[in-house]
Amino acid sequence: MRLLVTGGAGFIGANFVHLVLREHPEHEVTVLDALTYAGRRENLEGVAGSFRFVEGSVCDGGLVDDLVGATDAVVHFAAESHNDNSFLHPVSFVETNTLGTAVLLDAARRHGTRFHHVSTDEVYGELPLEGGERFRPDTPLAPTSFYSASKAGADLLVRAAARQFGVATTLSNCSNNYGPYQHVEKFIPRQITNILDGKRPKLYGDGRNVRDWIHVEDHNRAVLAVLEQGRVGETYLIGANGERSNREVLAAILEVMGKEPDFFEHVADRPGHDLRYAIDATKIRDELGWTPRYEDFRTGLAATVAWYEANEAWWRPEKRETEARYQTLGR
Ligand code: NAD
Ligand code: DAU
Repeated sequence: MRLLVTGGAGFIGANFVHLVLREHPEHEVTVLDALTYAGRRENLEGVAGSFRFVEGSVCDGGLVDDLVGATDAVVHFAAESHNDNSFLHPVSFVETNTLGTAVLLDAARRHGTRFHHVSTDEVYGELPLEGGERFRPDTPLAPTSFYSASKAGADLLVRAAARQFGVATTLSNCSNNYGPYQHVEKFIPRQITNILDGKRPKLYGDGRNVRDWIHVEDHNRAVLAVLEQGRVGETYLIGANGERSNREVLAAILEVMGKEPDFFEHVADRPGHDLRYAIDATKIRDELGWTPRYEDFRTGLAATVAWYEANEAWWRPEKRETEARYQTLGR
């Protein structure tokens, strides 16, 4: 297959390209990425096989039309992905996440191209802390931030393109990823790199909020499974039964890095902070036989800590500016 991977220079997209070209050298990959603050060309260094990089935006209709016309399937990762940044420049989230997806779908409609959309569990809003309820493919969309609302808008456009234009779409909504190449703005890399800098990790509010953690490689294997075997028109939820409170995740990081359990500070909470996300992944497990390989969070976390320890040259250039942004936000 000729694959067009949007956002392939970012965290999950770059891991996806490495995985595909390592394990499926028969595929040809073109990456379209605008190289925003979150995208790095060097994330794709060392990829083997048939690979091409195009710098440009998913909002550029002419460029997108040319690329989609020359591909068999689009795997759409490109996005403004960080909730905290949507407090600083909310409209760019709608431009990239919603409008950019519309531009891609329009091209897929014209060229009859298969389209897989990578989305998030945040489109379903928040769950209560207690009760054990989990998101399912039929859970109503109820986003709570400009990030999640702009992604929910994209999800609705994907469903509309399937029904109105007959585009061969699939959609996946995944929970919180961790692993190599994740930007230092995100929770786990921020805390690891703070500790490496001798600074205290920062916990928002009381730290009781729960996220459902999955290793990025498990997410990407699930995306590949949906692309190759998923039923067109369907939505698959991806999660690895990885529910943990932020306090628990931080405690694990501190333990892995040999720090005292109280080596952190509480900072102001994120306004409107969603309490809990949790995925019921029965559908993808039963239909496609996908199962996560990183079932032990601590093993994946220790490997991730080791990656940041070994790759200071990768994260160092972003660290100061990222912390300056957090200073503006007061957290
Ligand atoms: P990221 O911020 O690390 O990477 C985003 C990439 O998109 C970057 O390379 C950036 O340069 C590129 N990009 C941004 N605007 C663009 C534009 N207009 N045109 C082309 N490229 C553009 O994000 P990520 O964490 O890798 O997330 C990738 C996708 O997965 C997103 O759609 C996100 O919503 C979704 N997702 C992320 C998570 C998570 O935990 N990180 C979980 C579920 C779903
Ligand atoms: O659920 C999937 C989503 O997970 C993806 O769609 C997003 O792209 C991804 O960024 C992530 O969103 P979150 O807002 O959950 O991720 P973040 O890493 O920013 O924060 C995880 C939790 O940790 C959240 O409850 C806020 C908290 N937090 C975050 C930071 C950066 C802290 O307590 N301290 C911090 O310094």
